[in-house]
Amino acid sequence: MSKRRRIYEGKAKILYEGPEPGLLVQHFKDDATAFNAKKHEVIDGKGVLNNRISEYLFLRLAEIGIPTHFVKRLNMREQLIREVEIIPLEVVVRNIAAGSIAKRLGLEEGTPLPRSIVEFYFKEDKLDDPMVSEEHITAFGWAHPPEIDEMTAMALRINDFMAGLFMGIGIRLVDFKIEFGRLVENDMMRIVLADEISPDSCRLWDVETDDKMDKDRFRRDMGGLVEAYREVAQRLGILPEGDLSREKTGPRLVSSNED
Ligand code: TMP
Ligand code: ASP
Repeated sequence: MSKRRRIYEGKAKILYEGPEPGLLVQHFKDDATAFNAKKHEVIDGKGVLNNRISEYLFLRLAEIGIPTHFVKRLNMREQLIREVEIIPLEVVVRNIAAGSIAKRLGLEEGTPLPRSIVEFYFKEDKLDDPMVSEEHITAFGWAHPPEIDEMTAMALRINDFMAGLFMGIGIRLVDFKIEFGRLVENDMMRIVLADEISPDSCRLWDVETDDKMDKDRFRRDMGGLVEAYREVAQRLGILPEGDLSREKTGPRLVSSNED
């Protein structure tokens, strides 16, 4: 596994060449970044938890008919995925005002929005991922109008499903970010859910206490990030085998397929 070709390295994940053409290995790192990597830390155990949580959510979404790039989890930190052409947009769905929309529109964090709102951001680190409109997306050719409609419809279905799923375990889905890719199959092009869905890319608040169970704990220097992600995994009924993320000190089993 160690001699695989690295296709791409992002802030929290690495993509390696897969076992056959059309497949890639997505590796979850422990790196946490915020504010376009101006803030960076390695948080022991985060990648293991995100791999499991993202696997769980992609499998549940596939069950309701959302096409995804996910094939199967390979080990603690890696999953096999289909290679797609990533659409250079971050699609954000919001249910409750928090983060950038609270700032931009002067809303108090925690205010329910009149309805779920879908936003698009252009994926370009050099520009700090600026928000863009459908006009920009079609004028610059990042996606065609039917693709925008499909991404919007899928994003809203994903939101409805995940909001219910999280509410069932006492967690409010405040907002989240997803990415889509184009997959060519039998001469047909389909848009599929790609990347990851994890507490790195969602805002999750405990229903009872409003405690943050997501990456805002890191962005806002609150501490307790891995504990919060582990709590999310626990409530979803999934925990990494042997829960390696818990072992910060003392002897640690090093598995040969972990890297
Ligand atoms: P925002 O309020 O900062 O715009 O974030 C909205 C949602 O998108 C929130 O759940 C965090 C997630 N997000 C990412 O996953 N990656 C990013 O680069 C940003 C800015 C936000
Ligand atoms: N993931 C982005 C970054 O590194 C931003 C964020 O999630 O806040 O910088």
